[in-house]
Amino acid sequence: MKTRTRRLRGGELLRRMVRETRLSADALVYPLFVRDGEGVEEELPSLPGQIRYSPDTLSKGIDTALSAGVRSFMLFGVPEPEAKDETGSGAYDENGVIQRSLRNIKKSFGDDACLITDVCLCEYTAHGHCGLINNGRVDNDSTLPFLTEIALSHARSGGDMVAPSGMMDGTVAALRKALDVGGFEGIPIMSYAAKYASAFYGPFREAAGSAPQFGDRKSYQMDYHNANEALRRIEIDIDEGADIVIVKPALPCLDIISLASRRIKTPIAGYSVSGEYAMIKAGAASGFIDEYKVMCESAVSVFRAGAGILITYFAKELAGAIKKGDIG
Ligand code: PBG
Repeated sequence: MKTRTRRLRGGELLRRMVRETRLSADALVYPLFVRDGEGVEEELPSLPGQIRYSPDTLSKGIDTALSAGVRSFMLFGVPEPEAKDETGSGAYDENGVIQRSLRNIKKSFGDDACLITDVCLCEYTAHGHCGLINNGRVDNDSTLPFLTEIALSHARSGGDMVAPSGMMDGTVAALRKALDVGGFEGIPIMSYAAKYASAFYGPFREAAGSAPQFGDRKSYQMDYHNANEALRRIEIDIDEGADIVIVKPALPCLDIISLASRRIKTPIAGYSVSGEYAMIKAGAASGFIDEYKVMCESAVSVFRAGAGILITYFAKELAGAIKKGDIG
């Protein structure tokens, strides 16, 4: 038989030699939740194994991740419920939970940790939507100046990169302009370009207290029946100045990652969201699947599809798997 594809699968060394997907812990981003308060270190019931910190304890979470080999972080702020208001003012408060966290972490870790911040209003608004409400609707254009205020306050506090996740049109252009004018032309924008209205965000909303108080997010997040729309959205964000584009969620959108990676030259990040993590945890807890192996296979599939970066709650464990040589 001239062709036998099994030949290259004959032994471990051969299999490793011909691998088409190579992983590095440098490509992993670890999301962390920071709550208002002091001395907080609490496990999140909706995300078993994930810990919510306060600005003064966050360095522990960063330290543990650095020891595991993970050096990039995505920070989400969780203000006290009574601090929420109509315009999400806690999000752009110079003494807000994220701003204080950034200053603390930069003081302790300097450039050893890359801090990417979520730029959105939903955790900070009383109504839980990602934009301002006008006549019962989420208003696009009046939201943009608030998003630029958030991004600027993060940059001033020492953030390394901003990640707008609110899906308001024109966000990237508005942020790029404001950052440039503010003297932050070197701060990259990692844009949630293709973000679907997904039920996979459930555990996150519980962890961040960011569920919408009325309606849903379908007027701004994308309909999961669409792929062309995602490509269009990605191209628009790149045109507006996005440095990295996110596709989210990851596993249900491997097709989008694959299509986009063939079309665009801008780095793509897949965001393996809270529901993906929770499913693996729950499946393993009930004995149906092997957590470690499913984690490894899922992560590799996102890179194989064409992502260069993976945002994942399993970042530390994956860095360990890469170090052990189980993947990568
Ligand atoms: C905020 C935001 C969400 C996630 C990231 N940023 C929630 C949402 O859009 O409702 C989800 C992340 C996850 O599920 O892990 N806009």
